[in-house]
Amino acid sequence: MKFIYLADTHIGGSDSEGYRQQPRYLLHISELMECLAGWIEKQKNIDFIIHGGDMVDSSSAENIDAALKFFRQLPCPVHIALGNHDLTSDDAVGYWLNKAPEYFSGNSVNFPFSHDEMDFYFLTCHWGKKPYFWDPAEKQIPYFSASQLEALRKYGTVSKPLFLIVHSPVLGLPCEQSGLKNPLHLPEGDFSMTMRKIADELSVKAVLGAHNHMNMNVELDGVNYITVSAFTEAPFEFKLFEVTETKLSMKTISMAAEAGFKSDYNFDKTFVQGRLCDRFFERDLR
Ligand SMILES: [Fe+2]
Repeated sequence: MKFIYLADTHIGGSDSEGYRQQPRYLLHISELMECLAGWIEKQKNIDFIIHGGDMVDSSSAENIDAALKFFRQLPCPVHIALGNHDLTSDDAVGYWLNKAPEYFSGNSVNFPFSHDEMDFYFLTCHWGKKPYFWDPAEKQIPYFSASQLEALRKYGTVSKPLFLIVHSPVLGLPCEQSGLKNPLHLPEGDFSMTMRKIADELSVKAVLGAHNHMNMNVELDGVNYITVSAFTEAPFEFKLFEVTETKLSMKTISMAAEAGFKSDYNFDKTFVQGRLCDRFFERDLR
Protein backbone atom coordinates (compact mmCIF):
# COMPACT_ATOMS: atom_id res chain seq x y z
CA MET A 1 0.00 0.00 0.00
CA LYS A 2 1.24 3.49 -0.85
CA PHE A 3 -0.32 6.77 0.16
CA ILE A 4 0.51 10.46 0.02
CA TYR A 5 0.39 12.71 3.05
CA LEU A 6 0.23 16.46 2.49
CA ALA A 7 -1.20 19.43 4.37
CA ASP A 8 -1.58 23.17 4.82
CA THR A 9 -2.61 24.11 1.29
CA HIS A 10 -4.46 27.20 2.65
CA ILE A 11 -6.49 27.65 -0.54
CA GLY A 12 -8.12 31.09 -0.64
CA GLY A 13 -5.32 32.63 1.45
CA SER A 14 -2.70 35.22 0.59
CA ASP A 15 0.89 34.69 -0.58
CA SER A 16 2.06 37.65 1.53
CA GLU A 17 0.06 37.32 4.76
CA GLY A 18 -0.63 34.71 7.41
CA TYR A 19 1.54 32.08 9.07
CA ARG A 20 4.17 30.78 6.63
CA GLN A 21 7.58 29.17 7.06
CA GLN A 22 8.71 29.54 3.43
CA PRO A 23 7.46 31.61 0.46
CA ARG A 24 3.91 30.60 -0.48
CA TYR A 25 2.67 30.32 -4.06
CA LEU A 26 -1.13 30.16 -3.98
CA LEU A 27 -1.14 32.14 -7.23
CA HIS A 28 0.22 28.94 -8.79
CA ILE A 29 -2.13 26.49 -7.06
CA SER A 30 -3.49 25.18 -10.39
CA GLU A 31 0.02 24.29 -11.61
CA LEU A 32 0.93 22.70 -8.27
CA MET A 33 -2.17 20.52 -8.28
CA GLU A 34 -1.55 19.55 -11.92
CA CYS A 35 2.03 18.56 -11.02
CA LEU A 36 0.77 16.45 -8.16
CA ALA A 37 -1.86 14.77 -10.37
CA GLY A 38 0.80 14.06 -13.01
CA TRP A 39 3.16 12.62 -10.42
CA ILE A 40 0.44 10.34 -9.03
CA GLU A 41 -0.50 9.15 -12.52
CA LYS A 42 3.13 8.35 -13.31
CA GLN A 43 3.43 6.21 -10.14
CA LYS A 44 0.30 4.21 -11.02
CA ASN A 45 0.11 2.66 -7.54
CA ILE A 46 -0.89 5.42 -5.11
CA ASP A 47 -3.93 4.18 -3.19
CA PHE A 48 -5.10 7.43 -1.61
CA ILE A 49 -4.15 10.87 -0.30
CA ILE A 50 -4.39 12.04 3.28
CA HIS A 51 -4.71 15.79 3.77
CA GLY A 52 -3.60 16.76 7.27
CA GLY A 53 -5.78 19.86 7.44
CA ASP A 54 -5.86 23.58 6.66
CA MET A 55 -7.05 22.69 3.20
CA VAL A 56 -8.41 26.25 3.06
CA ASP A 57 -7.26 29.49 4.70
CA SER A 58 -10.72 30.29 6.04
CA SER A 59 -13.82 28.16 5.79
CA SER A 60 -15.98 30.32 3.49
CA ALA A 61 -18.18 28.38 1.07
CA GLU A 62 -16.18 29.94 -1.77
CA ASN A 63 -12.82 28.67 -0.43
CA ILE A 64 -14.11 25.19 0.38
CA ASP A 65 -15.74 24.86 -3.05
CA ALA A 66 -12.51 26.00 -4.75
CA ALA A 67 -10.44 23.51 -2.73
CA LEU A 68 -12.81 20.65 -3.51
CA LYS A 69 -12.62 21.46 -7.20
CA PHE A 70 -8.82 21.16 -7.12
CA PHE A 71 -8.68 18.03 -5.00
CA ARG A 72 -11.38 16.25 -6.99
CA GLN A 73 -9.15 16.51 -10.06
CA LEU A 74 -6.56 14.25 -8.42
CA PRO A 75 -6.56 10.66 -9.64
CA CYS A 76 -7.08 9.00 -6.23
CA PRO A 77 -9.38 9.29 -3.19
CA VAL A 78 -8.76 11.94 -0.52
CA HIS A 79 -9.38 11.82 3.25
CA ILE A 80 -8.90 14.77 5.58
CA ALA A 81 -8.43 15.66 9.24
CA LEU A 82 -9.78 19.21 9.41
CA GLY A 83 -7.44 21.94 10.68
CA ASN A 84 -8.12 25.18 12.53
CA HIS A 85 -8.28 27.20 9.28
CA ASP A 86 -10.95 24.78 8.00
CA LEU A 87 -13.15 25.74 10.98
CA THR A 88 -13.43 29.54 10.95
CA SER A 89 -17.19 29.76 10.35
CA ASP A 90 -20.30 28.57 12.17
CA ASP A 91 -21.17 25.02 11.18
CA ALA A 92 -18.05 24.62 9.04
CA VAL A 93 -18.21 20.91 9.93
CA GLY A 94 -21.74 20.70 8.49
CA TYR A 95 -20.60 22.35 5.27
CA TRP A 96 -17.61 20.02 4.85
CA LEU A 97 -19.71 16.92 5.54
CA ASN A 98 -22.44 18.06 3.19
CA LYS A 99 -20.15 19.12 0.34
CA ALA A 100 -17.49 16.40 0.61
CA PRO A 101 -18.96 13.33 2.35
CA GLU A 102 -16.46 11.10 0.55
CA TYR A 103 -13.55 12.77 2.42
CA PHE A 104 -14.94 11.51 5.74
CA SER A 105 -16.83 8.46 6.95
CA GLY A 106 -20.00 7.82 8.96
CA ASN A 107 -21.04 11.46 8.49
CA SER A 108 -18.41 12.46 11.04
CA VAL A 109 -15.13 14.40 11.05
CA ASN A 110 -13.76 11.81 13.50
CA PHE A 111 -13.64 8.51 11.69
CA PRO A 112 -11.74 5.29 11.12
CA PHE A 113 -10.48 4.19 7.73
CA SER A 114 -9.00 0.81 6.94
CA HIS A 115 -6.83 -0.16 3.99
CA ASP A 116 -5.01 -3.47 3.56
CA GLU A 117 -2.45 -3.84 6.33
CA MET A 118 -3.26 -0.60 8.15
CA ASP A 119 -5.92 1.16 10.16
CA PHE A 120 -6.18 4.94 10.24
CA TYR A 121 -8.16 7.14 12.58
CA PHE A 122 -8.85 10.76 11.66
CA LEU A 123 -9.56 13.26 14.43
CA THR A 124 -10.58 16.91 14.17
CA CYS A 125 -9.18 19.07 17.01
CA HIS A 126 -11.01 21.75 18.91
CA TRP A 127 -8.96 24.95 19.32
CA GLY A 128 -10.87 27.20 21.72
CA LYS A 129 -13.96 27.45 23.90
CA LYS A 130 -16.38 26.66 21.09
CA PRO A 131 -16.01 23.11 19.69
CA TYR A 132 -15.11 22.73 16.00
CA PHE A 133 -14.60 26.48 15.66
CA TRP A 134 -11.41 28.50 15.51
CA ASP A 135 -11.38 32.23 16.12
CA PRO A 136 -8.06 33.56 14.76
CA ALA A 137 -7.98 36.15 17.60
CA GLU A 138 -8.13 33.40 20.24
CA LYS A 139 -5.06 31.59 21.58
CA GLN A 140 -4.71 28.13 20.00
CA ILE A 141 -5.09 25.32 22.52
CA PRO A 142 -5.72 22.03 20.66
CA TYR A 143 -7.73 19.35 22.46
CA PHE A 144 -10.14 16.47 21.97
CA SER A 145 -13.38 15.97 23.86
CA ALA A 146 -13.85 13.00 26.19
CA SER A 147 -16.29 11.43 23.71
CA GLN A 148 -13.78 11.73 20.82
CA LEU A 149 -11.13 9.98 22.91
CA GLU A 150 -13.57 7.33 24.10
CA ALA A 151 -14.59 6.51 20.50
CA LEU A 152 -10.91 6.31 19.51
CA ARG A 153 -10.11 4.00 22.43
CA LYS A 154 -13.01 1.72 21.46
CA TYR A 155 -11.81 1.56 17.86
CA GLY A 156 -8.15 1.20 18.76
CA THR A 157 -8.51 -2.30 20.14
CA VAL A 158 -8.20 -3.84 16.64
CA SER A 159 -5.09 -5.83 15.82
CA LYS A 160 -3.79 -4.01 12.72
CA PRO A 161 -1.13 -1.29 13.02
CA LEU A 162 -2.80 2.07 13.67
CA PHE A 163 -1.99 5.57 12.35
CA LEU A 164 -3.63 8.64 13.89
CA ILE A 165 -4.19 11.76 11.80
CA VAL A 166 -4.66 15.00 13.70
CA HIS A 167 -3.93 18.53 12.52
CA SER A 168 -1.98 19.71 15.54
CA PRO A 169 1.60 18.52 16.00
CA VAL A 170 2.03 16.44 19.14
CA LEU A 171 5.58 17.69 19.79
CA GLY A 172 7.55 20.87 19.23
CA LEU A 173 10.20 20.89 16.52
CA PRO A 174 13.40 19.60 18.23
CA CYS A 175 16.16 22.10 19.07
CA GLU A 176 18.65 19.77 17.32
CA GLN A 177 16.69 20.34 14.10
CA SER A 178 16.11 24.08 14.35
CA GLY A 179 19.28 25.15 16.18
CA LEU A 180 17.02 27.25 18.45
CA LYS A 181 16.99 27.29 22.26
CA ASN A 182 13.47 25.88 22.67
CA PRO A 183 11.27 23.41 20.78
CA LEU A 184 9.41 25.31 18.07
CA HIS A 185 5.60 25.39 17.82
CA LEU A 186 4.99 23.17 20.83
CA PRO A 187 1.21 22.69 21.30
CA GLU A 188 -0.30 24.59 24.22
CA GLY A 189 -2.01 22.80 27.12
CA ASP A 190 -1.89 19.05 27.70
CA PHE A 191 -2.34 17.95 24.07
CA SER A 192 1.15 16.46 23.86
CA MET A 193 0.72 14.45 27.07
CA THR A 194 -2.77 13.22 26.10
CA MET A 195 -1.67 12.09 22.65
CA ARG A 196 1.47 10.36 23.88
CA LYS A 197 -0.56 8.48 26.48
CA ILE A 198 -3.19 7.33 24.00
CA ALA A 199 -0.57 6.41 21.38
CA ASP A 200 1.08 4.21 23.98
CA GLU A 201 -2.23 2.63 25.11
CA LEU A 202 -3.31 1.77 21.56
CA SER A 203 0.13 0.75 20.22
CA VAL A 204 -0.10 3.47 17.59
CA LYS A 205 2.72 3.34 15.01
CA ALA A 206 2.59 6.94 13.78
CA VAL A 207 0.80 10.21 14.44
CA LEU A 208 0.55 12.46 11.39
CA GLY A 209 0.27 16.15 12.21
CA ALA A 210 0.60 19.38 10.26
CA HIS A 211 -0.07 23.03 11.29
CA ASN A 212 3.59 23.98 11.92
CA HIS A 213 4.42 23.95 8.16
CA MET A 214 7.65 22.04 8.92
CA ASN A 215 8.94 18.53 8.29
CA MET A 216 9.46 16.70 11.57
CA ASN A 217 9.93 13.04 12.42
CA VAL A 218 10.57 12.14 16.05
CA GLU A 219 10.40 8.51 17.13
CA LEU A 220 9.46 8.16 20.80
CA ASP A 221 8.55 4.85 22.47
CA GLY A 222 7.89 3.16 19.12
CA VAL A 223 5.69 5.97 17.76
CA ASN A 224 6.75 8.23 14.86
CA TYR A 225 5.46 11.76 15.46
CA ILE A 226 5.46 13.32 12.01
CA THR A 227 4.59 16.69 10.54
CA VAL A 228 4.83 17.89 6.95
CA SER A 229 5.77 21.26 5.45
CA ALA A 230 3.02 23.22 3.67
CA PHE A 231 2.36 21.91 0.16
CA THR A 232 1.83 25.42 -1.25
CA GLU A 233 5.12 26.75 0.21
CA ALA A 234 8.44 26.23 -1.59
CA PRO A 235 9.72 23.60 -2.28
CA PHE A 236 6.16 22.12 -2.44
CA GLU A 237 6.71 18.92 -0.50
CA PHE A 238 4.61 15.94 0.53
CA LYS A 239 5.26 12.55 2.10
CA LEU A 240 5.05 9.21 0.36
CA PHE A 241 4.33 6.35 2.77
CA GLU A 242 4.73 2.72 1.83
CA VAL A 243 3.37 0.02 4.11
CA THR A 244 3.85 -3.74 3.77
CA GLU A 245 2.99 -6.46 6.27
CA THR A 246 6.36 -5.99 7.94
CA LYS A 247 7.73 -2.55 6.98
CA LEU A 248 6.76 1.10 7.13
CA SER A 249 8.72 3.68 5.15
CA MET A 250 8.39 7.40 4.49
CA LYS A 251 10.01 9.61 1.85
CA THR A 252 9.69 13.38 1.41
CA ILE A 253 9.13 14.46 -2.17
CA SER A 254 9.34 17.96 -3.67
CA MET A 255 7.40 19.22 -6.68
CA ALA A 256 9.75 22.24 -7.17
CA ALA A 257 11.48 20.75 -10.21
CA GLU A 258 8.17 19.72 -11.84
CA ALA A 259 6.47 23.07 -11.18
CA GLY A 260 6.72 25.25 -14.26
CA PHE A 261 7.41 28.48 -12.36
CA LYS A 262 10.38 29.96 -10.54
CA SER A 263 10.15 29.95 -6.74
CA ASP A 264 12.21 31.62 -4.02
CA TYR A 265 13.46 29.83 -0.91
CA ASN A 266 14.61 31.22 2.45
CA PHE A 267 17.95 29.47 3.00
CA ASP A 268 18.15 30.88 6.55
CA LYS A 269 15.39 28.40 7.45
CA THR A 270 16.44 25.11 5.88
CA PHE A 271 15.42 23.43 9.16
CA VAL A 272 11.83 23.68 7.85
CA GLN A 273 12.69 20.94 5.36
CA GLY A 274 14.41 18.94 8.10
CA ARG A 275 17.44 16.72 8.38
CA LEU A 276 17.68 13.41 6.56
CA CYS A 277 16.10 11.68 9.60
CA ASP A 278 13.14 14.09 9.47
CA ARG A 279 12.61 13.43 5.77
CA PHE A 280 13.13 9.69 5.37
CA PHE A 281 12.76 6.64 7.56
CA GLU A 282 12.08 2.94 7.37
CA ARG A 283 11.03 0.77 10.28
CA ASP A 284 9.88 -2.69 11.16
CA LEU A 285 6.14 -2.95 11.85
CA ARG A 286 6.19 -6.17 13.85
FE1 LIG B 1 -3.22 24.93 11.22
